[in-house]
Amino acid sequence: MRQPAEAVSAPTEPAPLLEVEDLRKSFPRGGGLLGRRGTAVRAVDGVSFTIRAGETLGIVGESGSGKSTTGRLLLRLLEPDSGRLHFDGRDLLAESRSAFRHRRRDLQMIFQDPYASLDPTKTIGTSVGEPLRIFDKLARRERDNRVRELLGLVGLRPDHLSRYPSEMSGGQRQRVAIARALSVAPRLLVADEAVSALDVSTQSDVLNLMRRLQRELDLTYLFISHNLSVVRHMSDRIAVMYLGRIVEIGPADQVHLEPRHPYTRALLSAIPVPDPLVQRTRPRIVLTGDVPDPAHPPQGCNFVTRCPHAAPVCHEVDPVLEPDGGGYAVACHMSGVTRERQR
Ligand SMILES: Nc1ncnc2c1ncn2[C@@H]1O[C@H](COP(=O)(O)OP(=O)(O)OP(=O)(O)O)[C@@H](O)[C@H]1O
Ligand SMILES: [Mg+2]
Repeated sequence: MRQPAEAVSAPTEPAPLLEVEDLRKSFPRGGGLLGRRGTAVRAVDGVSFTIRAGETLGIVGESGSGKSTTGRLLLRLLEPDSGRLHFDGRDLLAESRSAFRHRRRDLQMIFQDPYASLDPTKTIGTSVGEPLRIFDKLARRERDNRVRELLGLVGLRPDHLSRYPSEMSGGQRQRVAIARALSVAPRLLVADEAVSALDVSTQSDVLNLMRRLQRELDLTYLFISHNLSVVRHMSDRIAVMYLGRIVEIGPADQVHLEPRHPYTRALLSAIPVPDPLVQRTRPRIVLTGDVPDPAHPPQGCNFVTRCPHAAPVCHEVDPVLEPDGGGYAVACHMSGVTRERQR
């Protein structure tokens, strides 16, 4: 299924910073040879979206929906099978992987587990200063000065410079990972479950830090999380992924308050509401069945096996991500019908 880029652009905006068009990535099933059994997991299956400078696009979806793979493809930590990636008008996939590596300072990633990006045998000063040594060839003294500035920027003290990751809390480690990502002055940050491993109050500290940094440093974010509340808090627009595809994308409030895809509605209904009266009266949509095997998606709509509104057409025809002309798009045959029913 092709998802036209114009379907998912923010309305009335100049050229976006990042344009992603029909991005695809499959993995061989069970690590075996692709050709042998002919099965492949379609981790990212024709994904298109844009992000404009200064904006946060949130990506939400259940485990295995292709969120991390999408993020990794943007930074070419994985090579896409096909698709187009334009950053600031530049065709990222036209460049060799080694040429891209040098340009990659514009795009940085923050992961769920800072242990994965921070070497436990190196001090914070060395870890945060490493990109400055590699990219900017800064000498030790200059590097340390810059690292102290970066630590201050993310709310850490200068004396943290000589500590090791194991001597810091989870929240502090994530701040270090952010400082390291910022050291090369990127323009786009991909945050993949950046706060998911933290307790709730530390989560909100780190999220607030990220918002402040976005304003101060004019950053653009792709914010990936399975947690719709967190994504809503951070995002200007939200894309909902299911089985490697975007099924709904639009302004965050609209996706949150008036979701059009039954999958988004189910995700939302699982979030507790603080008001007990609202909580009691609000319908809880429980999805039955498991997420289908991405190597063998169902015929018709990917969501048909779990959808409470599935009609005959949904078993036959794969719905296209249909733009409404106002920067909103949904891939559902029944979205109009179910919206009427809700009123
Ligand atoms: N390196 C890989 N080799 C084989 N399959 C992979 C690989 N990476 C991802 N997959 C598969 O691709 C699909 C998408 O995975 P991905 O990690 O992108 O999902 P996700 O939405 O980030 O999930 P989570 O919320 O659990 O992080 C899954 O079915 C996963 O098993
Ligand atoms: Mg993931």
